[in-house]
Parts: sequence; C-alpha cells; structure tokens
Amino acid sequence: MTNDLYAVIGHPISHSKSPRIHSLFAQQTGEPVEYTAIQAPLDDFAGTVRQFFERGGKGLNVTVPFKEQAWQLADQRTGRAEKAGAANTLYYDNDRLVADNTDGCGIVRDLVDNHGVTLKDARILLLGAGGAVRGVIGPLLAEQPAELVIANRTVTKAEALVDLFSDDAGNTRLSACGFGEPDQPFDLIINGTSASLQGDLPALSPKVIGAQTVVYDMMYSLKTTTFNQWALDQGATRVFDGLGMLVEQAAESFRVWRGVRPETASVVEELRTD
Ligand code: ATR
Repeated sequence: MTNDLYAVIGHPISHSKSPRIHSLFAQQTGEPVEYTAIQAPLDDFAGTVRQFFERGGKGLNVTVPFKEQAWQLADQRTGRAEKAGAANTLYYDNDRLVADNTDGCGIVRDLVDNHGVTLKDARILLLGAGGAVRGVIGPLLAEQPAELVIANRTVTKAEALVDLFSDDAGNTRLSACGFGEPDQPFDLIINGTSASLQGDLPALSPKVIGAQTVVYDMMYSLKTTTFNQWALDQGATRVFDGLGMLVEQAAESFRVWRGVRPETASVVEELRTD
C-alpha cells in the first residue's frame, strides 16, 4: 500500500518539528502517512499549494509566514479558522479547499489535559495581540474563564481583538490594556508575544505573579524560555513552554485528516530528548 502524502509548508522550514511529530503519530497509530516539509517561495504560496494537491497530496500544515494567505486561499473555512483569521491546516473536501485552525485547540488541550490547569472561572492575562494570540482567544473563551485581559505593547491592537471577540465572551469579562496596567496576581498568564526574539520582555509588574500563578509561554525552547525565566525570578513555580501546544495542534490536524487522535505525551517526551 502506498502512503498518503502530507506536508508542512512555510518559509523558512528546515527547523520545523512537524515532520518528526507526524512520523511519530504515523508509527504509533499505524496510519499510512508520509509527511515532509516544503519551503514555498515567498511570492508563490498559492502555486506551491496547488501543485502539492495536484500531485495527490492529502493535507497541509501551514506555518510562518503563510497562515493568513492559507486562510484567504481556501474555498471554505471551519468556524474556528474563520474567527482566527489564519489557518494552519488545509485539506480538500468535495473539491473544495478547506482551511482549519488547530492552534487554539492545541493550547487549551495542553493546559487542561496535560497540565491539569482549570480554565473555567480562571482569571487569565494574555500577552500580545498578533496572529498567534488571535488564534487562541476563541478556544480560551469557550472554556468560560471569569476574566480574559489582553495586554499588548500597542494597546489599540488589543482593543481591536476585544471588539472582534466581544460576541463570543459570554459571561467572561474581556478587556484590553497596556503591559504596565495589571497589578494583581492572575491564575494564568500566557505569553503570545514575540518579544523574546528581539531579546525583550513585556514590561509587566511583578505583582501579576502570585504563588499559584500558572505561566505559559507559547514559544518553546529546550532550555527555559526568556519569559518563563523572568516569571521564575518573580516567584512563579508552575511554568510551561509551548512544546505541548505544538504537539497538540499537530494531533488535532492529524485527527481532522485521518479520523484518529494520536497519543501526545510520549511524543512530547521524545522531542525533549531528541
Ligand atoms: P505572531 O504571528 O507571532 O503573533 P505578530 O502578528 O507579528 O506575530 O505579533 C507579534 C506580537 O508580539 C505583537 O503583539 C507585538 O506587539 P505590537 O502589537 O505592539 O507590535 C509583540 N511584540 C513583538 N516584539 C515585541 C517587543 N519587543 N516587546 C513587546 N511586544 C512585542
């Protein structure tokens, strides 16, 4: 039997962990899946996607910088992709290119299932207002936290996200502010900024960290991330990086494509020791 072909598409792509993750999923589930990495030219994402599917490809993961283009290119979007404004998963259904987004579901699963964090009635501080943050707001609100504060360097961008998601907030108090404003401990702080790529930290008051605060950096690193190190220095004791989120979003894409949900804990473990 020949394998069904999947790939991750991005630019650059050589450091992507997705081929490794999906090969482990294929091994574990026995699904006939072959998964590669494709670097699309920056000016021809659409053509590269078209070629992949014309050659019989079954599904794509999409990463930086093409997630918004993938969203635009699709004939049809799932509800969670529609609101996220970006897609990380593409496949064909009845001759229509479908865009999905599994990133938000990935962080919720990692927090709730893998780390035992309670989101219902929690007070959450979400840092950043870019594409990565937009993708996780809907799934976080669906867990019915008591409060979701979106803090960003550029406050107007956080305010725009509050407007966009105000209809999804239900009983959650949803608000926007600058980094300097919050001065009470939160149950959960999620870093969705890319500040650490410039060697920076969001300028937060140390008062946002209490003895029980869970800190989650959507970035991942084999050593402690810059943001998590800051949180530890302020007295945080429960800090997690985004490797679990990466594996969970991949597992959800695999489930969407194959109808089988792989087990994730052993895959996270494997990647930590690679
Ligand atoms: P991504 O797709 O990773 O979300 P993005 O859409 O460019 O990338 O968003 C980057 C986020 O990190 C934004 O919230 C950005 O803040 P601004 O909206 O003010 O630009 C934030 N960010 C990037 N560099 C930062 C820095 N040095 N300090 C604080 N926040 C930063």
